[in-house]
Amino acid sequence: MPEKIDYDAKIPNNVDLAGDRRLQRALEGWQPKFMNWWGEMGPTLATQGVYLRTAISVGREGWAHFDHVNVPDYRWGIFLAERDPDRTIAFGEHRGEPVWQQVPGEYRSELQRLIVIQGDTEPASVEQQKLLGLTAPSLYDLRNLFQVNVEEGRHLWAMVYLLHAYFGREGREEAEGLLLRNSGSPDAPRILGAFNEETADWLAFYMFTYFTDRDGKYQLGTLKESAFDPLSRTCEFMLKEEAHHMFVGTTGVDRVVQRSADLIREHDTTDIAAHGGIPLEIIQRYINFHYTVSLDLFGSETSTNAANYYTAGLKGRWLETRRKDDHKLTDDAALLAKPLADGTWGSEELQAILLLNLDLRAEYIADCQTGVKRWNRILEDAGISFRFALPHPGFNREVGINSGHHVTPDGSIVDEQTWQAAKHQWLPTTEDLSFVRSLMRPVYERGKIASWVAPPRQGINGKPFDYEYVYLP
Ligand SMILES: [Fe+2]
Ligand SMILES: [Fe+2]
Repeated sequence: MPEKIDYDAKIPNNVDLAGDRRLQRALEGWQPKFMNWWGEMGPTLATQGVYLRTAISVGREGWAHFDHVNVPDYRWGIFLAERDPDRTIAFGEHRGEPVWQQVPGEYRSELQRLIVIQGDTEPASVEQQKLLGLTAPSLYDLRNLFQVNVEEGRHLWAMVYLLHAYFGREGREEAEGLLLRNSGSPDAPRILGAFNEETADWLAFYMFTYFTDRDGKYQLGTLKESAFDPLSRTCEFMLKEEAHHMFVGTTGVDRVVQRSADLIREHDTTDIAAHGGIPLEIIQRYINFHYTVSLDLFGSETSTNAANYYTAGLKGRWLETRRKDDHKLTDDAALLAKPLADGTWGSEELQAILLLNLDLRAEYIADCQTGVKRWNRILEDAGISFRFALPHPGFNREVGINSGHHVTPDGSIVDEQTWQAAKHQWLPTTEDLSFVRSLMRPVYERGKIASWVAPPRQGINGKPFDYEYVYLP
């Protein structure tokens, strides 16, 4: 039986908060700071109720409840997936030992660091998206934005719970810090680059939820393997919610491509800007940008930190238990492609354990390809010859072996001048951004939708598209 959550508690949870008065008080002390942060840095649009999904249990069946909720009254809570009493460590030097219910002293600072980095991304995305509610293309989309935002807020709660429950005074200080850093702040920015970029329009929002939330999925997947069981169980539950964020991205881009394809056919021209659609070249440039800043989130291709985390059992590989090897990787080798000074590509053989970031990135890239395939299918079905593509992983990179090199989307290494001269073909230009921004006008009549995006095939939770997903004042 899935455990039911006590909705009358101040902080709904399935971690028996009531049984730990000290922890409960610490979290109740953090809650008003969270609410202040939400008020200042969260969605700016005022509503009178949004049709939201709220987590109510962690079981396989019916873990969420849908209803109109006044957003500031949303019950952010703490939910961990159910504990598997037989779970053992799946990799690294402690492989086969029981997982840890407490933080081992020797790994304390590394685990805290991993949790803070993950935790920092969650509120960052809410900050990046705070203005989008002013220009949503439909009530359905507006509802999805709020859904993603409240769940990122809950993911922050999830990380703050771990910091408070397992990391003492330092953990509580880090929990405060998660509210003090802000996306794009010159003095106290968010830790990772992609989370300091603004999500200025709805095409960027769909791209963000496709590419950047998907990075989140892969990072959570590695933490789900962690020997520190509470972290693993937290991430397992977060992944359930994360799936919806990526659905918003996948189907969002689908719908933009569908609308552009419809306009191209209707007007028999690819120049659809005048007809209120987004030209395919601009969509491609958005893909190039959001995909490459998301690749940077995987860190350097070679990483002794990642190797140490792996050996210690803190962070595993994607689907670790399904891998057919010794789960220690001390004797395995792998190849790293790298740009050479003479403008050609070379490769180096390294210990596989040093290339774990690259391994995770490869899983991510393969997953991203599925979206591109979907979008190309829409074009193919419309009889349009244009095809989207993911750029070469060396393109437009700020992190790792490709940073400082000038790599074109098709993987040629060129000099800086050549790259700069062609850059406008590859990355969104100021004109692209202001054009897309010019299309962003709110459409808040039931059943209506903006000119540049097709309606969804289905509504939320069996409701029709023209359902009143959001009550506006
Ligand atoms: Fe998240
Ligand atoms: Fe997310």
